[in-house]
Parts: sequence; C-alpha cells; structure tokens
Amino acid sequence: MITAIYPGSFDPPTKGHVDLIQRAARLFDRVVVGVLVNPDKRGSFTPEQRVDMLRRCTAGMGNVQVHAFSGLLVDFARQQGASLVLRGVRGVADLESESTMAWANAQLMPGLETLLMPASAQHAGISSSLIRQIAQMGGDISPFVPEALIDEIQRTFYNSK
Ligand code: PNS
Repeated sequence: MITAIYPGSFDPPTKGHVDLIQRAARLFDRVVVGVLVNPDKRGSFTPEQRVDMLRRCTAGMGNVQVHAFSGLLVDFARQQGASLVLRGVRGVADLESESTMAWANAQLMPGLETLLMPASAQHAGISSSLIRQIAQMGGDISPFVPEALIDEIQRTFYNSK
C-alpha cells in the first residue's frame, strides 16, 4: 500500500493543485494532502480555510485526505505512514528548488522518495500568488481556481480592502 503526501501552502488552492491531486489519486492507494501551517508567515487564507477548500475540491475522491501540518514535512510523512512525497513542477525554475527540497528530505528521512510530476499543460502557468494578485485587483480568477472556490476567494480579498 503506497501513501503519497502532497504538501504545500495552497494559499489558495488552484486548478493546477486539484488536477495534480486527481492524477495522483489514480496512481496511489492513498493520497494525503498536507497544508503547511507556518506560524512565521500569515497567509491570505487561514489554514482551516485552506483545508476546507481542498476538502471541498476533493470530496469525490475516496482515497484522498486533507490535513494541516506544522514542523518538518518528514515528521508529517512518518506520522501518515507515507513513503513518497509528491510535488508538481511547472518548469525548470521549479525543478531547481524542488530538487533541493527533495535532497533535504531524503537526508532527513532516508527512504522517503520525492516524485516530481509535470503540471498539465493547461495549468503550467497557474500559481497561488498569481491568483492572489489578480483577485486583489478585482480581476477574473475563474480560469485559475476551481469553481467551488471562486466566491470565497473573491470575498476574502474584497473584505480585506
Ligand atoms: O506550496 P509551497 O509553499 O511551495 O510548499 C512548500 C512546502 C510546504 C512543501 C515546504 O515549505 C515544506 O515542506 N515545509 C515544511 C518544513 C520542512 O520540512 N522543511 C524542510 C524541507 S525543505
């Protein structure tokens, strides 16, 4: 039984994230989406909001669970019984930083593999920061985020004005 961890900030989740989770759910027995709670970096969305948004987007995927975690990713991986970390790459820039992270995690937890999955072509240009920027300026975020999240994301930025 292979449990794969898909960690990230998900501030907010994007269509690219959900696409990757969908593809991973077809490949592995269990996929655990890990939402990083970073006490030093307050995001635009609370960890609870991000977990809730991801749960709504993955509600139809029976082998996917969403949890928040803090501290080291390897500790969360051990706690979840995961043998694999999954990360999406959108291009060469991602590849460099993701390789560094994979090496660090493999040092901290020998045997923990990292699998880098190329983003689907239609999602390769999407990032959470791009969505935050567009939403802050009142632009249309519908091409980038799952439909179920559009209202909540727009409301968050509207209320923060
Ligand atoms: O979506 P992001 O911000 O690119 O995700 C980064 C994340 C959460 C995967 C990374 O920052 C992480 O794993 N943080 C947990 C702390 C940790 O384990 N650091 C050491 C390995 S880099």
